[in-house]
Amino acid sequence: MKKNLVVLASGSGSNLQALIDATISGKLDANITGFIASKPGIGAISRAEKAGIPSCVINRTSFETENEFANSLLTAFRDLRADYIILAGYLIKIPVNVIQKWESRIINIHPSLLPDYGGKGFYGLNVHRAVIRDKQKFSGCTVHIVNEEFDKGPILAQRSVPVLENDTPESLAARVLEQEHILLPQTIQQLIKKTFP
Ligand code: GAR
Repeated sequence: MKKNLVVLASGSGSNLQALIDATISGKLDANITGFIASKPGIGAISRAEKAGIPSCVINRTSFETENEFANSLLTAFRDLRADYIILAGYLIKIPVNVIQKWESRIINIHPSLLPDYGGKGFYGLNVHRAVIRDKQKFSGCTVHIVNEEFDKGPILAQRSVPVLENDTPESLAARVLEQEHILLPQTIQQLIKKTFP
């Protein structure tokens, strides 16, 4: 039986698109049964709708407590019959009790070579700014299992790219993103088929 994936995102959704494309081409042998946006109006929602994937918005700011937010996520995961939760550019912290209930089944992609440039404040372009500021020769992306320590869960796979002398945060982000689009579907496929090298 194919595994069910529920994808969460906060932005343009190019990683969501990479997952959709991989399920269509057969490189990823799974069903995306639902998409959850962290706020209304983001590009990822139109990508999900275009692909016929049921989507909804679960906005942290519309809940009074962390617990209500957590319950809303848990209910959606159950209703969408999720086997794995994929954070594909999701910029909101997942509540601890959700991580505990879904232990080892929440997967995140991060735009750096973790453990470097992870944790609080390191997301999106902030990561690439810091990498350039520190004159690193290489950067990349990491797919890891989410645990209670922010960006510190077990690493499943990484891909690296060179940092060029004239790189801007935007040009580096674009080079890393190309690799994310390869790494994320490939790693999920290995995870669900249990074919890690
Ligand atoms: C991606 O670069 C992803 O790695 C990053 O957000 C971007 C989303 O792009 N995630 C994080 O920074 C998580 N800490 P996308 O919406 O085009 O997929």
